[in-house]
Amino acid sequence: MPNIYVTREIPEGGLELLREKFGKFEMNTEDRVLTRDELLSKVKGRDGVLCLLTDNIDDTVFEAAGSQCKIFSNYAVGYNNINVPAATKRGVMITNTPGVLTDSTADLAIALLFACARRLNEADLFMRAGKFKGWGPMLFLGQDITGKTLGIIGAGRIGGNVALKMAKGFNMKVLYTDMSGNPELEKEIGAKRVDMPTLLKESDFISVHVSLNDNTRHLIGEKEFAMMKPNCVFINTSRGPVVDEAALVEALKAKKIFAAGLDVFEKEPMLTPGLAELPNVIIPPHIASATFWTRTRMAEMAAKNLIDALEGRMPEFCVNKDQLSK
Ligand code: DGY
Repeated sequence: MPNIYVTREIPEGGLELLREKFGKFEMNTEDRVLTRDELLSKVKGRDGVLCLLTDNIDDTVFEAAGSQCKIFSNYAVGYNNINVPAATKRGVMITNTPGVLTDSTADLAIALLFACARRLNEADLFMRAGKFKGWGPMLFLGQDITGKTLGIIGAGRIGGNVALKMAKGFNMKVLYTDMSGNPELEKEIGAKRVDMPTLLKESDFISVHVSLNDNTRHLIGEKEFAMMKPNCVFINTSRGPVVDEAALVEALKAKKIFAAGLDVFEKEPMLTPGLAELPNVIIPPHIASATFWTRTRMAEMAAKNLIDALEGRMPEFCVNKDQLSK
């Protein structure tokens, strides 16, 4: 029977699949991320590991797991927490869970867009503090959304989904940047691929949907915020380090942009000093995929990836498939 390890409890749907296949298996049942030492000791001798985006899976972890280890199955679509080239060198498969979190992540980006534009968090706090003394002509004025321009940075599955929903539902004009064109988006909603400065200067709303890599780290910083419109609402549900958070705090303080909605943070779970004190930011704790349906599907996919690898099949969502077969 393969020896597997799960670095933190995931929804039952996935655990059930693992139990059916492998019987009893070991899992971190404490509701916290394993320390580095715990991770190194727990992966030792395993044939496969189901890990989370909060686990730093580098070459030392692969070394600790041992040469029999076939797979690290990541419970996330993003896999910037894993050193994939190091895994490939050791012949370890890395898998992820794309597709099932597209709607939930796009929906949260849209929820942030609305909440920031209409200052819902500030207005809610105001009400709870008993400050509402009756309707006022100047009370919590915000930004219009319908018919405005939406800039999508990274028009893949999730960015494209945000664009479609906002163009079809709210008649937004969509601009996008991406390494490659998205002809379907262009055909369906008339989205226009532009260069980054054009997107930054012309968008009323900007939503970031790129994966984190050496090319996208600090993709948005002081220079980029300076190009945005003062009414711009900036949303990031991708990965925190794509944005220079200190520069964002300065841009918000100086009112260079109107507001920001962030589900991900540069030094997660820590926040850049000053960010949480600003009234014009909304900062949920990395919950874009946190719906019952999505998290259960992610658990099933991560389990299935692990099972496939350990039963000798190439998992459908193996991110280093092509490199491994070379
Ligand atoms: C992912 O899967 O990469 C998401 O960030 C999880 O919410």
